[in-house]
Amino acid sequence: MKNKTAFICSILSVLIFVGAAYARHELMKVPAQRLAFGQNTAMPMPQGGDLRQHIIGQEPYKKWSMWPGKGELYKGTEPHGALLTVYINDIAMKSIKDKKGMGNNSIILKENYTPDKKLAAVTVMYKVEGYNPEAGDWFWAKYDADFNIQKEGKVSGCIGCHGSASDNDYIFTGKIK
Ligand code: HEC
Repeated sequence: MKNKTAFICSILSVLIFVGAAYARHELMKVPAQRLAFGQNTAMPMPQGGDLRQHIIGQEPYKKWSMWPGKGELYKGTEPHGALLTVYINDIAMKSIKDKKGMGNNSIILKENYTPDKKLAAVTVMYKVEGYNPEAGDWFWAKYDADFNIQKEGKVSGCIGCHGSASDNDYIFTGKIK
């Protein structure tokens, strides 16, 4: 009886040890991938869910600056929306001022509104060095008004149209070089 209890205890402790080691391994995974993209761990993975967590959680975009010279709800063109507001993170702001192209980890976020000022969609460009060198290393994402992911990744539709501005780092809103 005593032996049996000892046996069960030792099996249990092995299971706990293996479980803890596995959990630690899983936790370590994400930062390792982030480092693979040459990012610091404060930046999200080029992935719709992780980016959403960053822009509405850790670093709420509403606190960022707007694109220099552009205010809230300015008139947009097809296909994005009647009224637009563009927010940029600090790295993007510095890049726009330096005029040397957009730096790694720049994020440009555009709110797309209907003519009656209802938020219809949010489109984002996120620069991640090494992510897609053939098309400016931009990660593209489109969310609906509730931040459900509609499109993400190397979206051919986005790249196809923005590609006509490849000499301006795929950006239409203003000259960045
Ligand atoms: C048919 C062309 C076209 C397509 C497709 C398109 N865009 Fe755009 N995009 C534009 C234009 C033009 C602007 C400039 C804003 C304006 O005047 O509407 C723009 C602006 C933007 C901006 C602001 C920064 C910039 O480049 O000026 C973001 C971010 C953006 N688009 C993301 C996306 C994403 C994400 C997709 C795909 C889901 C996409 N766009 C698809 C034409 C396009």
